[in-house]
Amino acid sequence: MNASHLLTIRDLSFEDVEEILELTRDVKANPSTYAHRLEGKTLGMLFQKSSTRTRVSFEVGMFQLGGHALFLGSRDLQLGRGETIADTARVLSRYVDGIMARVFAHQDILDLASYGSVPVINGLDDDVHPCQALCDYFTIREHKGDLAGRKIAYVGDGNNMAHSLIAGAAKVGMHISVASPKGYEPSTAVLDAVAEDARRRSVRIEVTNEPAAAVAGADVVYTDVWASMGQEEEREKRLRDFAGFQVNASLFDKAASDAIFMHCLPAHRGEEVTGEVCDHERSVIFDQAENRLHTQKAIMLLLMG
Ligand code: CP
Ligand code: NVA
Repeated sequence: MNASHLLTIRDLSFEDVEEILELTRDVKANPSTYAHRLEGKTLGMLFQKSSTRTRVSFEVGMFQLGGHALFLGSRDLQLGRGETIADTARVLSRYVDGIMARVFAHQDILDLASYGSVPVINGLDDDVHPCQALCDYFTIREHKGDLAGRKIAYVGDGNNMAHSLIAGAAKVGMHISVASPKGYEPSTAVLDAVAEDARRRSVRIEVTNEPAAAVAGADVVYTDVWASMGQEEEREKRLRDFAGFQVNASLFDKAASDAIFMHCLPAHRGEEVTGEVCDHERSVIFDQAENRLHTQKAIMLLLMG
């Protein structure tokens, strides 16, 4: 892989993305081949926000590769008492072989990479969630085969998840249609940044305020929470503003008859998605959760091996 960090999907080349997806397939099929590849290596896992899947899948993944993972909650580090991200990065780099971080400000991820001297993996920030989107395109490929020319519809907040799915679609050649309420559309900076990739792969990126229009004919229907971590105080307003954007059976029925439902989780059943759709026979949400493990093992092998 050319990239020395995984900060955003936009930073990766088409070939890097293909290499990650292909290695993920092999790591999942033949885990024992990789059992000792990161022996003696340590991953520092810095968390400013909560996590179930990211924390557990990175820790288990590192164990399965023969290495060790350290959970570092930001409140327990000197970071919580004012030590800078830059100094933390320089210190951690003297102990660990890679840093995975979940933070608020994207700039913190950039600082970890520029001040530290070991590979940095972005485990989610306010702007992007690259590990999840890479795992999601792997999951779609498992269920649908070749991705080129297929369509994913994302219904909901134009948030970190939407941004990484858009960037990923432009890399893997899938059309993407995003339906968000007015004022909650994905960032125009992200749309501008991926325009060249989209042009090269002949990918259509649409942004609409009409969920039914986005979902029409889609092979994949994806949603995420309406209030992300850090937006808890906006929750009541968002519940009102997102009325009409719930993925329920009637909306899911407007997609292709063999469409799959996806959600990065955690889901708020009864808000952005109904329990019925979460538990639908064409819901693949727990395959996604499992594939975080395999995808991140591939990413760690490529960056830290
Ligand atoms: N999807 C995801 O990143 O889940 P966690 O917040 O539980 O890590
Ligand atoms: N958009 C969500 C994703 C959680 C995995 C958040 O940032 O809280």
